[in-house]
Amino acid sequence: MIKQAIIPLAGLGTRLLPLTSVFAKELLPINGKPGLEYIINECIDAGIKEIIFIISKRKMMIKKYFYNDKFYKDLIKKKKDPRVIEEYKKILKFRKMIKFVYQNKPKGTGDAVLKTKKLIKDKYFLMLLPDDLIIKKNCSKSMISSHKRYKSSVMASMSVNKKSVSRWGIYKLDKKLNKTDYLISDVIEKPDLKNAPSNKAVIGRYILPRSIFTKLKTTKPSKGGEIHITDAIQALIKDNEKFIAHHFSGKYLDCGTMNGYINSTLEINKL
Ligand code: G1P
Repeated sequence: MIKQAIIPLAGLGTRLLPLTSVFAKELLPINGKPGLEYIINECIDAGIKEIIFIISKRKMMIKKYFYNDKFYKDLIKKKKDPRVIEEYKKILKFRKMIKFVYQNKPKGTGDAVLKTKKLIKDKYFLMLLPDDLIIKKNCSKSMISSHKRYKSSVMASMSVNKKSVSRWGIYKLDKKLNKTDYLISDVIEKPDLKNAPSNKAVIGRYILPRSIFTKLKTTKPSKGGEIHITDAIQALIKDNEKFIAHHFSGKYLDCGTMNGYINSTLEINKL
């Protein structure tokens, strides 16, 4: 069973400036609800019991969002507004499942994962990247089904325009296991078009084995100084760890860029 999920939330969000100069991008509203709540609901619906948030001092606003008790209690004391009570209950429900760890230097997703090492209890855990919303079908849930069936690590996969391969982690696929699942023989972080093994991209949902922590300790930072989770995964694949690319059927929304963020509101509004 996959019971724990981790969400890296320490990113600077420079692609959404100037909003992110004062605001945590994951709390920006998408159709009236913070993007982060869609991700939490995906976890709950997929049977996750504990979520670990990796935040930074700059992103304390996220912790405050879940720990603003005095504000709610004062409001409710003054006037028993059922809507306020409902919202407060929802926040308390979320909070029960959330733990916080800190990554104060933006040293990449791999470094963020490493910060959760002491809290991960089982052999496998789920990671969701908050910029990547997937609507219409619960991607984490269907990945957990594939994980149960094949007893291996699973990552979300989507076909992308060939010209855009250098924006993504890109898979080299091996054996087809069924209509949606393929074994992976390589995964390369943001390759040039000429070095890209396919146009199948990594999307931000990963079921990772605990052995990733040992690999991450020896994973070298890339040119930009960040430790990429993709590089640690590639090293595990080379050690014969089984990884599956899962072609999900939901709709992907990229909330990490301004155009994508605006579009995600329009798409969710259509549901
Ligand atoms: C990250 C991953 C990349 C993946 C992408 C999906 O990149 O490093 O492999 O394809 O998420 O959104 P980032 O968006 O942080 O540049």
